[in-house]
Amino acid sequence: MAEKTTSIVAVYPGSFDPITNGHLDLIARGSRLADRLIVAILRNEAKQALFSVEERVEMLKEVVQGYSNVEVGTFDGLTTSYAVERGANMILRGIRAISDYEYELQMALMNRRLQPGIETVFLMSGEAYSFISSRLVKQVAKLGGNISGLVPPIVEERLKLRLGATAR
Ligand code: PNS
Repeated sequence: MAEKTTSIVAVYPGSFDPITNGHLDLIARGSRLADRLIVAILRNEAKQALFSVEERVEMLKEVVQGYSNVEVGTFDGLTTSYAVERGANMILRGIRAISDYEYELQMALMNRRLQPGIETVFLMSGEAYSFISSRLVKQVAKLGGNISGLVPPIVEERLKLRLGATAR
């Protein structure tokens, strides 16, 4: 068992396409838990994203402005390699429901195998956010449904602008 470290530097990795109020809830909780929290956007060219990485960085930076210990980064490749590069000792992930558990467990165990010194910590999002996902928010926005309260206002605006152009 590793010795207890004094300072917690956490990486919260994800696609954030776009950031939702569920993510934001997790960032708020994570910022109270960690000394430094790095929200890290995966640069995954293979995955069809609605927003470019730069747009996602912009939105994230704007919504985490109020947290002095939260920063935004981007990475390619393995989450664990990025965590090592940034001097992190924790990976933060959210669990909304039991359906998230299997995939998250697999990732956590793989990440532990890759970097035994980095602990994955799961935080439960607030129950009000347990049904929110970026995928569903995009779908509802595209089909003209109301997404207010599900994403930060600046993201709602951007979604309307982006999907307004492609909606039927
Ligand atoms: O928000 P998402 O899309 O569920 O995030 C998934 C993410 C970015 C955490 C995951 O795809 C990831 O860690 N990708 C980097 C590749 C990696 O480290 N793979 C090995 C661990 S399974």
